[in-house]
Amino acid sequence: MPANICQQLNNKNLDKESYISSLLAQMTLTEKIGQMSQLNNDNENLKTSIIKGNVGSIINEVNHESINALQRIASQESRLGIPLLIGRDVIHGFNTILPIPLGQAASWSTELVETCANIAAIESASSGVNWTFAPMIDISRDPRWGRIAESLGEDPYLCSALGCAMVKGFQGEKLSDSTSIAACAKHFAGYGASESGRDYNTTNIPENELRNVHLPPFKALAEAGVSTFMASFSDLNGVPVTGNSWLLSDILREEWQYMGMVVSDWESIPQLITHGFCMDRESAALEACLAGIDMEMASNTYAINLPSLIKNDQVNLDQINMMVSRILSLKFDLGLFEASFTESTPPLKRLNSFHLDTAKKAATKSCVLLKNNKQTLPLSKTEITSLAVIGPLADDGYEQLGTWVFDAKPSQSITCLNAIKDYVGNSVEVKFSKGLETSRSNNQEDFSKATQLAASADVAVLFLGEEAILSGEAHCRSNINLPGCQEQLINAIYETGTSIVLVIMAGRPITLEKILPKVDAVLFAWHPGTMGGPAITDLLFGETSPSGKLPVTFPRTVGQIPLYYSQKNTGRPPSDATFVDINDIQVRAAQTSLGMTSTHLDTHFSPLFPFGFGLSYTQFEYTNIQVNRQSIKVGESVEITATITNIGNYDAEEIVQLYIRDLVGSVTRPVKELKGFKGVFLTAGQSESVVFKVHTDELAFYNRQMKLKTEPGLFNAWLGSNSDAELKAEFEVV
Ligand code: NOJ
Repeated sequence: MPANICQQLNNKNLDKESYISSLLAQMTLTEKIGQMSQLNNDNENLKTSIIKGNVGSIINEVNHESINALQRIASQESRLGIPLLIGRDVIHGFNTILPIPLGQAASWSTELVETCANIAAIESASSGVNWTFAPMIDISRDPRWGRIAESLGEDPYLCSALGCAMVKGFQGEKLSDSTSIAACAKHFAGYGASESGRDYNTTNIPENELRNVHLPPFKALAEAGVSTFMASFSDLNGVPVTGNSWLLSDILREEWQYMGMVVSDWESIPQLITHGFCMDRESAALEACLAGIDMEMASNTYAINLPSLIKNDQVNLDQINMMVSRILSLKFDLGLFEASFTESTPPLKRLNSFHLDTAKKAATKSCVLLKNNKQTLPLSKTEITSLAVIGPLADDGYEQLGTWVFDAKPSQSITCLNAIKDYVGNSVEVKFSKGLETSRSNNQEDFSKATQLAASADVAVLFLGEEAILSGEAHCRSNINLPGCQEQLINAIYETGTSIVLVIMAGRPITLEKILPKVDAVLFAWHPGTMGGPAITDLLFGETSPSGKLPVTFPRTVGQIPLYYSQKNTGRPPSDATFVDINDIQVRAAQTSLGMTSTHLDTHFSPLFPFGFGLSYTQFEYTNIQVNRQSIKVGESVEITATITNIGNYDAEEIVQLYIRDLVGSVTRPVKELKGFKGVFLTAGQSESVVFKVHTDELAFYNRQMKLKTEPGLFNAWLGSNSDAELKAEFEVV
């Protein structure tokens, strides 16, 4: 067989630019448009399309042999021999499932999040996947939205730090390493603000808020070298992002100088018609192409319409060349022109032990202790003789994995029931009842068995929450309580008088205010993944202390949403002094008696649990906050220090958090903004001084002219264990 063009170029040892321009020079228009098209693996014409050079990427193929076969066709049977990008949603693990991203975010550990992504990259790359559609860095402030599970929470600073760590983990040292895959910053931008938390819905975000809240993580990832961006499905201020040239070109390309490739979301180009933005597929292809979508996911609008659009001069060939060169450039960086096949590996029988250890560590660090009345936790296997394990999520290897886990085997999960039994051995009698068939179940038939078990046990540990299907893409809820009859189950067990430990597995914050008084301890475990059981067991029995902190605010009621810590102060902020509860309003009271501040009458204005919150088995005391300089000039840094002391009896990790407030701004500033965090491990009684250095650039925000500027003035700084931190210092920028 004569060498194809890629093979010829490979022999010439060209640098990237020369390689790509030589290749482009040989490509027909059809082959170029082919590179801009991604097909699903179930496409019936897949092989012929690859041979004809009509495909640049395949999505959803994960079988190692099949991927190698497709790569072989691409590199040996197509005229040019251009290899394929193989894309897959590797969101929180591939075979080994780590906690859902929102759970990983609760670890507040960039190192851990990087390792988790790296494990996912190693496993998926060994199947031949070379591109993941992660991380999702949409700021998520609406827990009704199912995709909050896939997010890194509500805060731009935390989300940027953890998102960059994920990119590092996926992309490794070099993209061409056999253990690296390309990452994707998605969904650019504003997708998390969809109205009422309904997926795919409209987003209306003023430019100033967009730039100060939603865009920073994307900018951070662009600067960190993320290989690709995905445009959001959603309509942003009236212009669907897929056709939004202001966002995709003016901001991404011109302002940020981003050179990587942009992919559409699934069929989002033809959906420009459904949005009411384009009349037909031809104009949808035109708008998307002019806006800057380099590759179309799943649909064929580009393949069918770009030829005539180019012929009629509506799309310029230079632009197509630029788009194709971005795609080829990614293939070059991945080393695909040199080696697109992966070594054949035996089918996975057992998961790798380092991966399992990391999955356990991540699940342990992601759990957040929300309540621990009278030190109910940790349990001691020498002090209790019997334990009632109750709930539909106690022994379900599938549900504990959460959303986006196509490539995992639930049979490889270790459930809480099994892990607890394993841990306590013969020293504690463990009795189990599901109580409810699923988390949504309304059938109370099994309540009597569950209550009997609880009544005869020293402690009842309830595993409740949401099964996996209740969060994730398109899985949004208007109520975010414990679904089905789970609250009734808690009430029934409460009646037995046995102490209750509630472990919640869920893909989002859950409203817990009503049931909180009924339970002694609450451990929020998100969907913890393959090793959820052993991780939770270790925490329940005090092998390690919980250290997770909420990456998202927990509201008291769904009506408080949106509720996030970095709100604006308003002209009439609520306070305990002015707050009036609905039950305290006198009949026909004059309106002025109602406090006249920004709050609801029927719930307290505070969240149930603030952003950053999480208890430990020990207590940490924060003292002696200091700034090294009272006044700094723009361009300088200030150091903020405090002493943290472990004043309890357990050795434990604390996530120390730094918040600041810019007291006066030309655009009003949030009441608090996270500007730093550090994990500090302190043995019982140990103290440590923790220092944060903040440069004035980190105090900058987009002003009314949409310029990123630090404004002189007074700042408050707090160091503490959550966003309600009270230990405060002041400094000035002059
Ligand atoms: C649609 C989702 O919005 C996106 O995040 C995902 O990567 C693609 N489907 C591919 O599965």
